[in-house]
Amino acid sequence: MKRLAVLTSGGDAPGMNAAIRAVVRSAIFHDVDVLGIMYGYQGLIEEQFRPMNLRSVGDIIHRGGTVLQTARSTQFKTEEGQARAKDILKKRGVDGLIVIGGDGSLRGAERLHKLGIPTIGIPATIDNDIAHTDFTIGFDTAVNTVVEAIDRIRDTATSHERTFVIEVMGRSAGDIALWAGLAAGAEWIIIPEIPYDMENIAEHLIRTKKRGKKHSIIVVAEGAARGVQFAEHIQALTGLETRASVLGHIQRGGSPTMFDRVLASRFGARAVELLLGGASGQMVGTQNGDLVAVPFEETLNGTHHVHHDLSELAQMLSI
Ligand code: ADP
Ligand code: F6P
Repeated sequence: MKRLAVLTSGGDAPGMNAAIRAVVRSAIFHDVDVLGIMYGYQGLIEEQFRPMNLRSVGDIIHRGGTVLQTARSTQFKTEEGQARAKDILKKRGVDGLIVIGGDGSLRGAERLHKLGIPTIGIPATIDNDIAHTDFTIGFDTAVNTVVEAIDRIRDTATSHERTFVIEVMGRSAGDIALWAGLAAGAEWIIIPEIPYDMENIAEHLIRTKKRGKKHSIIVVAEGAARGVQFAEHIQALTGLETRASVLGHIQRGGSPTMFDRVLASRFGARAVELLLGGASGQMVGTQNGDLVAVPFEETLNGTHHVHHDLSELAQMLSI
């Protein structure tokens, strides 16, 4: 292994930069050359390479986003696009590739692995929707951002004695809503993985209001319902003044937390070690605090299970 390349792809996630830094520095530590590929798979197809050295990853561990930029590429989804990517990597003398991104990016990485390019994936998405890893890079930061936002909304909700519906990201997964909702003391958490009953929620809100509760917070995962419609429905059922707040892309930015920086540093270094050891077609993950390497096939065909116990706990504590 003389030269490896690294790219970030799909939705960005805080901590991607810490992962790039770890890949570059550990490769250099092991006397391996590193190329950065700009704009994910699209940049790969367009040959947007950039040599990386110790200094190119200086002063980035604390920054959100990705210094390699990211993109979504329809061209790469085609067989021709993938063949072109393979040819370019061969031409540039790349012996191994590290892909940092979410589910779609890992599917792309699997394609390149099957075409004979030694490839390792690093799960990075705020959604935490990847199977066989407890956490993905960016999730912890996003959840902390959401908790801070809910704390602020709680202040105004209390003053006006209102109900608030807060829509958070997560694509079709409920992890952001669940963990942030529990940490912020939400009354209800609505996620796609667990069915809910509007009448039941409305009755609960009316009952707790009568008991003297000054506000109610409902966190809704975007994969379960749209916040604005949900709020209108709640107001119609309860007669309580209800507002919606859609947090949006604020959840994707900001300085990564300690947890995400450490996770990204561990993932990046392990990905390089795996390539040096001759591995390919695997994703680095974490299970119960330990690092694991999971075959792409297993992770891409698996299901990321939501913690039902957290949902039950949140419900119990919101009585
Ligand atoms: P994320 O990685 O955050 O889930 P996307 O789903 O948008 O983001 O995927 C990022 C990119 O990965 C896509 O733009 C595409 O180029 C590539 N990709 C996604 N799915 C596949 C697939 N099934 N086969 C090959 N490449 C894919
Ligand atoms: O996958 C990360 C994510 O932020 C999802 O939570 C969200 O549904 C989606 O990306 C938004 O994508 P875009 O940046 O294209 O608006």
